[in-house]
Amino acid sequence: MNALSPVGAAARILAALGWPVLIGFLVTTAVMWGLIAWVAWRRTGTFAEHAPHDAGGGLGWVVVGGFVIPGIVFAALFVATVGVMRVFPMDHVAARARPIIRITGHQWWWEVEYLSDDLQKRFTTANEIHIPVGRPIEIELLSADVIHSLWAPRLHGKVDLVPGLVNHIRIQADAPGMYLGGCAEFCGLQHAKMRFVVVAESKDAYDKWLEHQREPAPMPNDPAALHGKSLFMSGACPMCHTVRGTEALATVGPNLTHFGSRATVAAGWLPNELAAVHAWVVNAQAIKPGAQMPALTMFSGSELHDLVAYLEALK
Ligand code: CUA
Repeated sequence: MNALSPVGAAARILAALGWPVLIGFLVTTAVMWGLIAWVAWRRTGTFAEHAPHDAGGGLGWVVVGGFVIPGIVFAALFVATVGVMRVFPMDHVAARARPIIRITGHQWWWEVEYLSDDLQKRFTTANEIHIPVGRPIEIELLSADVIHSLWAPRLHGKVDLVPGLVNHIRIQADAPGMYLGGCAEFCGLQHAKMRFVVVAESKDAYDKWLEHQREPAPMPNDPAALHGKSLFMSGACPMCHTVRGTEALATVGPNLTHFGSRATVAAGWLPNELAAVHAWVVNAQAIKPGAQMPALTMFSGSELHDLVAYLEALK
């Protein structure tokens, strides 16, 4: 999550501003500490021996160091920032093209909808945004509850998701890879655990992913997973989650249709691995206190095993 190592146009512009500021800060700091060290080294002895005496003058240094230099630095930064804003308009409120993805912030996860005029092609996933490499992608940003802020530092600057307002952002990744992001606006107890991943991949891989995500959930063929499915459907799970192609249709929590194909669980917080999913199902409240996912302690060990086998089979 290094904003100074950009892979997209929006992040590159911000890094171009960030680098000179960082270098200027480091050089100034080094010079100041050098001067302090030099004085400390030269002036050993007691304070009485080195009592400051007013030799007059010196006001010039105060004016130069306190007003002229900061004035020049801030004016230069201001001009550079305004220049960048003109080249790269920050008009988040107006889309420049039709968005293909709609992201809705929730406490504390990201709902990711792939839009299409053809309703058959629309689908919803969570916490993982796939994009084709090298192409600008328009995204619409909404919030279901409080203000959140989308930020994948290597791709773009922060943009808020505000209840009642539709914001827009354009992102582009110039190299394939998995880019981490997180919520950048304090939104409650688990703000720090509201993460996501952007997966930038070749056009072919992206198209294949789209095609697959549009499919309904696969029917598990392994007996454990099948038993897990009946536990899922008869328990509390369908009251919050959707698994497309089944009777689970609720939209309180993340859509689990292709849960097994995602890289993370708990909004980018844990890897999507057996141990993590077990822990999440049994005691989400220990991992993310305050999240809407309850601790489901009613399952026996073998039931839990089968339930997680079903979730992982949702490839
Ligand atoms: Cu969502 Cu902080």
